Amino acid sequence: MTPQDNLNLHLAESKAKDFLDSSFAAYMDDNDPLKALRDEFVIPTRGEIAPGADRPNEPCTYFCGNSLGLLPKAVARYVTEELQVWGEGAVNSHFKHRFGRPWVRIEETVQEQSARVVGAKKDEVAIMNTLTSNLHTLLAAFYTPTQERHKILIESKAFPSDHYAVESQIRWHQRDPKDSLICQEPRQGESLLRTEDILETIEKHGHEIAVVCFSGIQFYTGQYFEMEKITKAAQAKGCIVGWDLAHAAGNVPVQLHDWNVDFACWCSYKYLNSGPGGIAGIFVHERHATDFNRNRLAGWWGHDKATRFDMVNEFKPIAGAAGFQHSNPSVLTTSALLGSLSVFEKTTMTDMRKKSFLLTGYLYHLLTTEFSTDVLEIITPADPEQRGAQLSLVFKRGKMMDIFEGLAKRAIVGDERKPDVIRVAPTPLYTRFEDVRLFIVNLKELVAEFY
Ligand SMILES: Cc1ncc(COP(=O)(O)O)c(C=O)c1O
Repeated sequence: MTPQDNLNLHLAESKAKDFLDSSFAAYMDDNDPLKALRDEFVIPTRGEIAPGADRPNEPCTYFCGNSLGLLPKAVARYVTEELQVWGEGAVNSHFKHRFGRPWVRIEETVQEQSARVVGAKKDEVAIMNTLTSNLHTLLAAFYTPTQERHKILIESKAFPSDHYAVESQIRWHQRDPKDSLICQEPRQGESLLRTEDILETIEKHGHEIAVVCFSGIQFYTGQYFEMEKITKAAQAKGCIVGWDLAHAAGNVPVQLHDWNVDFACWCSYKYLNSGPGGIAGIFVHERHATDFNRNRLAGWWGHDKATRFDMVNEFKPIAGAAGFQHSNPSVLTTSALLGSLSVFEKTTMTDMRKKSFLLTGYLYHLLTTEFSTDVLEIITPADPEQRGAQLSLVFKRGKMMDIFEGLAKRAIVGDERKPDVIRVAPTPLYTRFEDVRLFIVNLKELVAEFY
C-alpha cells in the first residue's frame, strides 16, 4: 500500500470531511503510535519564536529539524549531571564517575545507540569531532590518489563545506580539482540527480575515480539517493564509497553495514537533536577495521586503550572506527547526544519511517492539491522512497521571502534557501499532523495575500 492509499484509508476511518478538516489531523494524532515522544521535547512557544504573535503560550509550528532539532528534555539532565561530576570530582571524574560514565570512556556511552541509528555494528562507529573535520579525517585515510585513479566524484550542488573539503583534499595531494574532481550535474532544466546518470558516470569514469562521496539526502532538494545501488556500482569499479549523512542520520533508516559502504560521517544537531555544534559521528566498515597500513591522521584517542596512558610514542590504532579518533571528546556535547539518543531508544528507525511516510505524505498531498504550480512547486522527489522528512518548495514569481517572513510572523519555522526555496521538514519524533494542517491553512492565507 502506498502512503497515499494509507492516508485515504485513514481519511475514511476518521470520518472527517476532507484532509484539511481539523478532525482528520486530530484523528491521525490520536492514533499515532509515536505521539508520546513529542512530550520528550521542549517545544518553543509561539511567543518565544515570534514575539507579538497571537496565542503566545501555544506551541510554535516547527519544521526545521533538518537544520537544528528541538531540545530533548533528557539533555538537560545528562548535561547537568556532567557539570555536577565536574564540580565534585574535577580531574578524578575521568576514572571515577558517580553516574557510571567515566570520561575516559565517555564516547562509548553513545557508540552502540548511534550505530543502531545508522545500521552499523558498534565497532564500525566512533563519535568524535564535527562533521567537516570528520570528512577530512576519512578522506585523509581513504583518498589515496594514484596516477591512474585520482578523481573524486561528488554532486555538483554538494553542501559547500563538503565541496571545499573535497577540493582541498585534492590540492593537499598536489593535484588540481580541474583534473581530479567530477561534479555530477542534474540534466538541463532538472533539479534532481537521476540514479541512471550517476551510474553512467561511474561506468564511464569508474576506473579513474578513487572516491565517490555523495550526501545520503541532498540538503537543498531533499532527494534521498539510492545509496545501496550507487555504492555497489562504484565498488564494482574499484572505487571507495563514502556518504555524508548530515540529512539522513535519524531521518531515514540507512543500513551502512549491509550496504557495504566504506565510510560515512554525519552531524548530530539536525534529526539527531543533540544541540548546536553537537558531536559528530563516523562509520568505517568492519572490513577496514584492521587495515592498519592505510595511512591515517593519528591522535592519542585513536590509540590502543590499554596503553594510551603509558605515553609511548608508538601509535597503535584501535581496531575499527575508534582508531580514527584524535582527541579526547567533548564530554558536554557527548552527554547531550546521550540525552537525545535516549529518545531514539524509545522507538526504532523503522517505526519513525512509517510515521514519516504518512506525515510528509500528508504535507505533500495538501501542497499539491491546495496550491497551483503557478504558486509553488515541490522539487523533492514525489516518490516517498526517494525522500526523507523534508520537502523543498520553490515559490514562484519572486515571492519566497514574503511567504517566508509571513510564516515566521505566524510562528511557523521553516528555513529559506535563496533564491526561491523554503525547506519544511515535519520530523516524525515531535511533529503532529495538526502542525502540517496549520502550516497549510496559514500558507493559503499568505498565498492569498501575496499572489
Ligand atoms: C550536507 C552537509 N555537509 C556538511 C555540513 C557542515 O557541517 P559542520 O559545520 O558541522 O561541519 C552541513 C551543515 O549543515 C551539511 O548539511
